[in-house]
Amino acid sequence: MTYTPEALAALVGDSQFDPRVYGDEALFRLEMARIFDRSWLLVGHESLVKQPGSFYATRAGSHPILVWRDGQGTVRAFLNRCTHRGTRLCSLDRGVAGSLVCPYHGWVFAADGALKSVPAPEEYGSDFRLGDWGLAPVAALDFYRGFLFVRHTKQGPGLREFLGDAASSIDDLVDRAPDGEVEACAIPLRHRYKGNWKLGFENLNDAHHARVAHAATVRAATRVTAELAEKATHASLGVMKANGMPIRQFSQLDLVTAKFGHSYLFGFIDGQKKQPFPQDYVDRLSRARGAEEAARILSVNRHLTLLYPSATLQGRFQTMRLIHPLGPDLTEIVGYIFRLKGAPDRMYEEALHYFHVSISPFSPVATDDFELYEGAQELNASSSAGPIVVSRLHEPGKASNAERVVHRGTSEAFIRNQYATWLSYMCDEASR
Ligand code: FES
Ligand SMILES: [Fe+2]
Repeated sequence: MTYTPEALAALVGDSQFDPRVYGDEALFRLEMARIFDRSWLLVGHESLVKQPGSFYATRAGSHPILVWRDGQGTVRAFLNRCTHRGTRLCSLDRGVAGSLVCPYHGWVFAADGALKSVPAPEEYGSDFRLGDWGLAPVAALDFYRGFLFVRHTKQGPGLREFLGDAASSIDDLVDRAPDGEVEACAIPLRHRYKGNWKLGFENLNDAHHARVAHAATVRAATRVTAELAEKATHASLGVMKANGMPIRQFSQLDLVTAKFGHSYLFGFIDGQKKQPFPQDYVDRLSRARGAEEAARILSVNRHLTLLYPSATLQGRFQTMRLIHPLGPDLTEIVGYIFRLKGAPDRMYEEALHYFHVSISPFSPVATDDFELYEGAQELNASSSAGPIVVSRLHEPGKASNAERVVHRGTSEAFIRNQYATWLSYMCDEASR
């Protein structure tokens, strides 16, 4: 089926949408071409390629890419594709090398992407020039405070404009480091769920679901914190417990939607108030920034940020998820954890604990959500499925896709904002 702008618009209403957006193969391909090939995508952090020659392989939308630092220190991103017959150049997840040899016929590429040598070059013809066959660079690459973004087209807004108000969520993470920098743990944890990528984006800032979907872990965290009393010092337990807050308390939190589909939810009060930061960390941050600025940084109680369409961030818990759509009904999540440079190890341990509880493949919280996503994927595949309703706290006329709009914490505005963005990408003339 081909989708005209009218057909696309018919899929997405103000407060309802058509369930075919989850399972339709043609729509998925269109999303890859019109959203993921045109938007800035978060693909990692400069600390993943610290030394000359270091590289890692990841995905940017539907394209495998290779991020590689050359001998002069320049970081580039290439399609991870040999320019001879198009096979995958690098099958390793990460490593350090001044050059890589294609596993098919042995073409050798340098870290700056140049083709250095090929076996028996004379056999490729007299007009064959190594200089014509370097790796294809991704069209655009930029950093924001060490976070690496790429885009598959040159045209479009600059990275700073794309991030808009959501850049403050990256600030929230980096500002917490006494030395002013964060460092990603090089080995991420990956897992997959059998559902559409959008299901995750529609869940993670959904304050209403937490107390219902995660009731079992709320009970467990409540019991464990009561048993351990003041010895239960992991902040992640506080957050797990806070998932069980009454709806009226959730609705008093602020949910912010921003341009380009981004959103963030302010934090879970319970988890913050009862779990103060270690004093030696507060002291180090205060020495580095002054007591007033340190207090301001630590008072930011932002729970989770959705950087549409590629990632989530949690500054308070030093984590990032990259979201890789692999098919209409298959999504990979790559979870990274960050160390705050200059902070005591205790902060890294805290983050690690949170990571395991909430993000890793072992997370008892995430597995609740995956079961829900997979149910939604299966039941929305049929053409007779009814609409998806996102009318909670719908305020007709309240701007969608605007610079910064504050909603009540339990609003489904962030989903409506994502679909307004989805529609504008999908119908954009320039992408056809
Ligand atoms: S495909 Fe890479 S050398 Fe032939
Ligand atoms: Fe959840």
